[in-house]
Amino acid sequence: MTENLSTAVEKGVGEGRVAVVSGGSRGLGRVLVERLLADGWRVATFSRSTSEFIAESSAAHPESFYWEAVDLGEPTTARTFVRNVHRVFGRLDLLVNNAGLVREELLFTMPPKAIEAQITANLVAPIMLTQACARLMTRQGGGNIVNISSINAVRGYRGVSVYAAAKAGLDGFTRSLARELGGNGIRVNSVVPGYFDSAMTAEMPAAYRARIERRTPLGRLAAADDIADAVLYLSSPRAEFVTGQSLVIDGGLTC
Ligand SMILES: NC(=O)c1ccc[n+]([C@@H]2O[C@H](COP(=O)([O-])OP(=O)(O)OC[C@H]3O[C@@H](n4cnc5c(N)ncnc54)[C@H](OP(=O)(O)O)[C@@H]3O)[C@@H](O)[C@H]2O)c1
Repeated sequence: MTENLSTAVEKGVGEGRVAVVSGGSRGLGRVLVERLLADGWRVATFSRSTSEFIAESSAAHPESFYWEAVDLGEPTTARTFVRNVHRVFGRLDLLVNNAGLVREELLFTMPPKAIEAQITANLVAPIMLTQACARLMTRQGGGNIVNISSINAVRGYRGVSVYAAAKAGLDGFTRSLARELGGNGIRVNSVVPGYFDSAMTAEMPAAYRARIERRTPLGRLAAADDIADAVLYLSSPRAEFVTGQSLVIDGGLTC
């Protein structure tokens, strides 16, 4: 047992709904962790490396926050993470497959290892994480799964074909899995964000950003909170009859 896990188990199982958010150290994942904690959820998250936010959250919410280092490049470790979350919190109500990575490069020059890494982290690992979580949710009698896709899955953009393939795969996974799991009381939906401010878009050239803003009917990039609003809606009882859907949140860019 890792030191992190044994300390968390010792603190005991508290009360309240439990969410797993992959990639909660920064960006959208961080916003989701913050908002779920503020709403009374217990939250488990992972990333490859820790961050100031992870350290602060562990100190501020010792009984309702759990973090572990996990690399989606080794998808089977996601299963161990879910087992640990169950030991710490005793249940699981929500999975948000948020962690993702993009490498912008034309397919002609992309090395095979980079192709494999993007498909593994953005598609294979979320599928395996979902399998482990859905088994737990089924034993419990229900749950909720939200996959974070991208508008690259629904529109073509140069330099992101592999990332786009993985995200489109995730949307297909959402639809079929919703049919498989509806009878188990589990809803499965995708949120499909347009560009929003995060480490992933920090390097975007100013001219490119201005062009996106010009082409977006609502005139700006999203904030991570705009995307989190959609995730929290789909996770809430207000969406109790919504499953198998992909909800595009892009200010109208792709309409
Ligand atoms: N930003 C956008 O404009 C945009 C647009 C459309 C869709 N999206 C999607 O939205 C989601 C969140 O994006 P974001 O912009 O918030 O990303 P971000 O700021 O780059 O954060 C990504 C998170 O995932 C973790 N992560 C990345 N690779 C990982 C791996 N191999 N194993 C475990 N954890 C990993 C990162 O931590 P470590 O690096 O420490 O592992 C971090 O916590 C992603 O699925 C992304 O594809 C983003």
